[in-house]
Amino acid sequence: MNENILKFSSEETNPISSYSMPIDEEPEMLSLRPKRICEYIGQPEIIETLTIAIEAARKRKEPLDHVLFHGPPGLGKTTLAYIISNEMGTNLTVTSGPALEKGGDLVGILTHLDEASLLFIDEIHRTPKPVEEFLYPAMEDFSIDVVFDKGVHARSHKFRLNRFTLVGATTRVGLLSAPLRDRFGIFRSLDFYSDENLVRIATRSAELLNVKINTEAAFELAKRSRGTPRIVNRLLKRVRDYAEVRADGIIDKKIVNSALSLEGVDEKGLTNLDRHYLKTIIEFYNGGPVGIEAIAATLQEESDTLVDVIEPYLLKIGFVTRTQSGRRASEKAYRHLGIGVQSMQRKMFK
Ligand code: ADE
Repeated sequence: MNENILKFSSEETNPISSYSMPIDEEPEMLSLRPKRICEYIGQPEIIETLTIAIEAARKRKEPLDHVLFHGPPGLGKTTLAYIISNEMGTNLTVTSGPALEKGGDLVGILTHLDEASLLFIDEIHRTPKPVEEFLYPAMEDFSIDVVFDKGVHARSHKFRLNRFTLVGATTRVGLLSAPLRDRFGIFRSLDFYSDENLVRIATRSAELLNVKINTEAAFELAKRSRGTPRIVNRLLKRVRDYAEVRADGIIDKKIVNSALSLEGVDEKGLTNLDRHYLKTIIEFYNGGPVGIEAIAATLQEESDTLVDVIEPYLLKIGFVTRTQSGRRASEKAYRHLGIGVQSMQRKMFK
């Protein structure tokens, strides 16, 4: 494990550790992540921006400008924070917006940051407003104002901080307040990956996991990974298990197909929840338009999960559209699910 990464402690109350790890922060998945910028596949413009900014900051012997990454889960926001810390040769402290419950949680972290070190705040849009307000002076002039006592005894004290870099990650940039957003010098959105880049990632990961996969199989895996490296790596592990138990350990296209149909992942990479979401719009709400809260209530899911995790890819492949009056399923979605648009309309007007 990277020595620069602040170790996760098991203490419940520690805001540095008290949020659940995404699947690719588990030890075996961590080892699949690229550690240096030259190992990173995809997102060429972001890589170019970071390469230049890192080299310039190192030359000037200054901390890097604050960086904000935006995009759906699993596209590499956290990976990029780890890479920046490795390239800058500085410590990385990891926390998340919801883990910072009180101003004191953030103050405790900020006052312990070394000169030029990195603070990564995942889901930064979920930072409580009173905590967020400590970030403004911290980001702008590396100081914080702490108020002691209340009422007539209230006194404020300015603490100087070491100069640090804040790396924020968010799935919902629209929920970030303008004062916070404007304090990031670098702001980049991550896109879904092409099948070709997912093939390269799957091939690299297979090598690290010491498993054989042919090109045709890697393409099939890529096609079913919703443009997302975290998914390609997760599915690769399921397919590896299947190949080892039901075959000779070598992954070919047939193995990928069998293993993934067992996982409920279809030929477009959609899962049971994706299909359930689409069928709810089509069968329950006659194809839409329907509001997200109504869909969430019918599915008994959090609307945030649908907006952050389910919808981005369905929007990207044109299976749903978002209008002012709500979500609509497209003809493509009907065709994929084998539901006739006309038969649904006939049912509607009966
Ligand atoms: N593993 C996960 N994401 C990756 C990426 N973008 N490049 C290389 N390996 C990866």
